[in-house]
Order: sequence, then C-alpha cells, then structure tokens
Amino acid sequence: MSTVPQLPDWADDDIDPRVPSIARIYDHLLGGSHNFAVDREWADDLERRWPGITQATWANRAFLRRVVGYCVRAGITQFLDIGSGIPTAGNIHEILTELGVNGQVVYVDNDPVAFLMGRRILADIPWATAIRGDFRELDTLVRSPEVTQHIDFTKPVAVLVLSILHVVGDEMDPHGVLGRLGAVLTPGSRLAISHFTNEGWSAERLEELLELTRSTTTPGRPRSAAEITALFDGFELVEPGVVQVPLWRPDADTPQEAGYLDWLGGVGVKR
Ligand SMILES: C[S@@+](CC[C@H](N)C(=O)[O-])C[C@H]1O[C@@H](n2cnc3c(N)ncnc32)[C@H](O)[C@@H]1O
Repeated sequence: MSTVPQLPDWADDDIDPRVPSIARIYDHLLGGSHNFAVDREWADDLERRWPGITQATWANRAFLRRVVGYCVRAGITQFLDIGSGIPTAGNIHEILTELGVNGQVVYVDNDPVAFLMGRRILADIPWATAIRGDFRELDTLVRSPEVTQHIDFTKPVAVLVLSILHVVGDEMDPHGVLGRLGAVLTPGSRLAISHFTNEGWSAERLEELLELTRSTTTPGRPRSAAEITALFDGFELVEPGVVQVPLWRPDADTPQEAGYLDWLGGVGVKR
C-alpha cells in the first residue's frame, strides 16, 4: 500500500500529492516551489529523456511576455488567461505592472494548487483575480460575475490559452469551446495559443512521451501545425502565423539557441 506524503502547510486536502499534475510539473520546470516529489521525479525523467523541455517551458513563458506586450501596444488592457498555471515569475499582472498599464486580469485554472496560490498572490491586487474553472466550462465561466466584474466583453479582450491545449483531448472539443468563446468576443480581441506539436517525431518516440503523460492527471494530445492553426477559426492570424514560439516576434531577450522541443504558438485577431 502506498503511503500518502504529508501535505505542506500551503496545500489543502483537495490536493493529491501521489499523482503528478501538469501544473506542478510546470512549476518545478520553471523553478517554483509548489510541487511534490512525484512531480519533480516526473519532470526530471522527462528532461533526461527529452533534453530541452526546461528550455522549452522558459521559451513559452517568454512568448507569454511578448504576447502581452503586443496586446498592450494594440490597446488591449483586459486579459483572460486560461490554464494559467501556478503563479511563478512573469505573470500577466506583473508584466502589466512593469509596463505601467492599468489593466484587468482573470486567471483560470482547474488545478487546486494553481487556484490556491493565485488567490494568495492576488489577495491585495483588486484588478486581478484567480478562478478555479475548467476549460470545458468556458462558455458559462465567461458569463459569470467573477469574470464580468473584471472583463467588459463589449471591449477587446486578450485571451491567452498557453501550453494547455496539448492536454485537452478531442473529446473536450477544444475547437468548439474556442469557437463559442470567440462568439462572445468583440472584433479586435486577440486569441493567443501555444501548443506542443507532434510533427517531426517518430511514432515510437511520440508514443513513449504519450505513455509517460498517461501517468499524470492530464494525458497528452499533441497536435499538428494544421490542427493548431484550425483552433484559430474565426480569428485572423497575425504575422508570422503559427511558428515555433521563439520565432514569434522575437525581441532582444528571446533565447535563440537550437534544441527547442516543437512548441508552436500564434496570435489571432477576432474578425
Ligand atoms: C503547462 S501549464 C501552462 C501554464 C501557463 N499557461 C503558461 O503557459 O506558462 C498548463 C496548465 O493548464 C491547466 N489545465 C489543464 N487542463 C485544464 C482544463 N481542462 N481546464 C483548466 N485548466 C487546465 C493545468 O492545471 C496547468 O496549470
């Protein structure tokens, strides 16, 4: 019989420290401290077998920063971050503060640690909030007072769906959910997606990775560039389209070393 590791004082009973969670694995890869031995072992195994995963998570985080800067330059100050993760460094509200922008931010994640830490970190920030919610419930979530007290959908909104859809299987209908979300957004709103791709992998190597993800709370569903591009239906992709995240409008701080896992990203404008 496996023993249940004792929860640290920041955790609550809703958290299972025996099963790796993508939110906590990601937190570990980004150097955060809200993860358990099971998450660290999983992440370290992944890094051993697929060197470059840590670099890829940082590249994805840098993509987030550039997307926020791009949206702000386009005049958008309202942000909805779906699958926002455990807040480590470089969250949207921090980027807005650095840029001196008076904005509104809603973070949504279904992971209990992400929600708990989000609430704690944002306790004194009235213009940002963390909500525990599922991607599948986005249609109802965007109409809830928790969201609408921060976001005015008659004005452009930036919706960030970064590094989550590769754990959202087809049975959760990501295309349909994003389509219905697009329907409540006003023209000029932006949709940003980053997504692990299955292109350029041998079938055996991909299966090895998928097998590993089946031991977590969220089995993987990497997609092709064409499938990722199709998720932008109803949005017009801005240049340079769906590309490896370090190639999306790189700035002086964008790491350019080779060896990234194929993590694609893009931004679309609501027509
Ligand atoms: C890899 S992390 C990405 C964090 C952040 N978006 C980033 O790019 O830095 C993926 C996040 O998606 C969340 N997630 C996975 N499936 C979800 C779902 N169905 N609904 C809401 N959040 C989900 C996980 O809990 C996790 O925090």
